[in-house]
Amino acid sequence: MKILMVCLGNICRSPLAHGILQDMVTKRGLDWEIDSAGTNGFHDGELPDSRSVAVARDHGIDITYQRSRQITSADLDYYDRIYVMDASNYQNVLRLMTTDEQRTKLEMLLNMSHPNENRVVPDPYYHGGFESVYQMITEACEAIVERYG
Ligand code: 4NP
Repeated sequence: MKILMVCLGNICRSPLAHGILQDMVTKRGLDWEIDSAGTNGFHDGELPDSRSVAVARDHGIDITYQRSRQITSADLDYYDRIYVMDASNYQNVLRLMTTDEQRTKLEMLLNMSHPNENRVVPDPYYHGGFESVYQMITEACEAIVERYG
């Protein structure tokens, strides 16, 4: 299973989703490939936001190996599942997709834990809420491992 986590800047939410799911699959010995990307390239090459690094570290997960990158058209074919954090991410990725096969891979992350509700992972960049973001992403990643693990 190859999974790509996507948000806007790839410095706050998707690096957490990437690190949390990576930690779960490593602990379960699953041979999955996990990565993350942003729809914009504004933070290309940067480490995750220090607040995401801190909340992950509080829970025993190191995400400092990650570097921000923008999603590419190759990602749309390479990954099996592409999870986005909010409706804006969803529209931005959908706009890049050119085939029905690609479109079937796209899903709102929190629909894994709360099916069909289209709940969003709120962007914590300006107003904080990293612990709450961490918790909702963890719940969704547990559902991913339950479903595909
Ligand atoms: P993310 O958060 O999409 O969760 O990585 C953001 C990071 C940076 C910006 C916006 C959202 N920004 O505008 O720079």
